[in-house]
Amino acid sequence: MLVWEDEYKIGNEEMDAQHLILFALLNQLTVNIDNDRAGDCLADVITALGGYIDYHFAHEEALMRAWDYPDIDAHSAKHVQFAAEVKHLQAQAHSGDVHKVAIRVRAFVLDWLLGHILGSDREYAAFIASKAA
Ligand SMILES: [Fe+2]
Repeated sequence: MLVWEDEYKIGNEEMDAQHLILFALLNQLTVNIDNDRAGDCLADVITALGGYIDYHFAHEEALMRAWDYPDIDAHSAKHVQFAAEVKHLQAQAHSGDVHKVAIRVRAFVLDWLLGHILGSDREYAAFIASKAA
């Protein structure tokens, strides 16, 4: 199971809470992968994760817009590209081997999310924190 570490926090309470939910969804996916009799649930969890990713990105982009974050376009472009790749994987859950897709989705989302949170998300959070000070 994934453990949410304090070092993953970017210092914005709402965004940290949303990142934590993404981790919880990844852990739900892990439970469903580990219990491969839960095949029916896997596609639903992948869909829920994809939906929450869209929700989270919309909130994050609204926050950056509200603070006139100068790198919003580059940041949003990363969101768009990632969301498209998740959607592409998600689509495979309905036609291919859902178990294999779930393992790929989990690895891909976890890897991207951690890199993104610790990199790009920290940058906008630091910008907002400096402007708010
Ligand atoms: Fe982001």
